[in-house]
Amino acid sequence: MTTVGFIGSGYIGGAIARLAVEAGHKVVLSNSRGPETLADTAAELGPRASAATSGEAAAAGDIVVVTVPVKAFPDLPATPLAGKTVIDTCNYGPERDGRVPELDCESLTSSELLLRYIPDAMLVKAFNNIFYKHLLSLARPEGASDRSYLPIAGDSASAKAAVAEFIESIGYSVVDAGPLADSWRQATDTPVWGTPYGPFSNEKGQPADEDAIRAALAAATR
Ligand SMILES: NC(=O)c1ccc[n+]([C@@H]2O[C@H](COP(=O)([O-])OP(=O)(O)OC[C@H]3O[C@@H](n4cnc5c(N)ncnc54)[C@H](OP(=O)(O)O)[C@@H]3O)[C@@H](O)[C@H]2O)c1
Repeated sequence: MTTVGFIGSGYIGGAIARLAVEAGHKVVLSNSRGPETLADTAAELGPRASAATSGEAAAAGDIVVVTVPVKAFPDLPATPLAGKTVIDTCNYGPERDGRVPELDCESLTSSELLLRYIPDAMLVKAFNNIFYKHLLSLARPEGASDRSYLPIAGDSASAKAAVAEFIESIGYSVVDAGPLADSWRQATDTPVWGTPYGPFSNEKGQPADEDAIRAALAAATR
């Protein structure tokens, strides 16, 4: 059992937390408004879930999921995230986040930008390319013939291994998509972003196997 801290507990954070609890992990949820606003969500998830401040969630997690708008990166608690394995689900959306010149000119990936705010974390990009409803509906037990794959990108082999183990435990297999510098291959509007798991209009989604995810990553251009 792993304790997973969540900084952000919205659509995708909430979906990951649900799968984590179902797999037997503990989750510590947080958001920008305070733990009292997450009491109902934690109660619904059951005794393995609790709500805390973002600093407490960061400190509690063996793995911490940062799942917030990019514009919230400056607010993240860097000190308790130092040395932690951190999953970054975040996508840059200028209409929501405002313009970030380094992201607009693609001199940085959004994960590399995040790392500037939490420089001592061991960051792994994951879950950013799947719609939260598909994440919930496409989870399958290990060994299932229609198990889907998720790309993960990161610079730390040990963090990637920990994240791969976590992802395997909640119903998916992984494709190693390289270092954080290559995480642009799974960013918004790339071939691996959303499309392999089916249209948003089909809430059940469609399974995406290893070959489909590898081919989509290879087809990315910029
Ligand atoms: N929705 C999807 O299917 C999906 C899929 C993959 C990736 N993503 C990406 O993952 C990230 C989260 O997406 P989402 O759809 O889950 O967003 P969301 O539903 O709007 O949830 C965002 C969460 O972040 C929290 N938050 C905002 N600012 C914060 C701060 N300063 N400190 C702590 N928590 C903060 C919010 O808390 P409050 O509500 O209290 O403000 C909320 O819990 C985004 O970067 C998004 O692009 C989304």
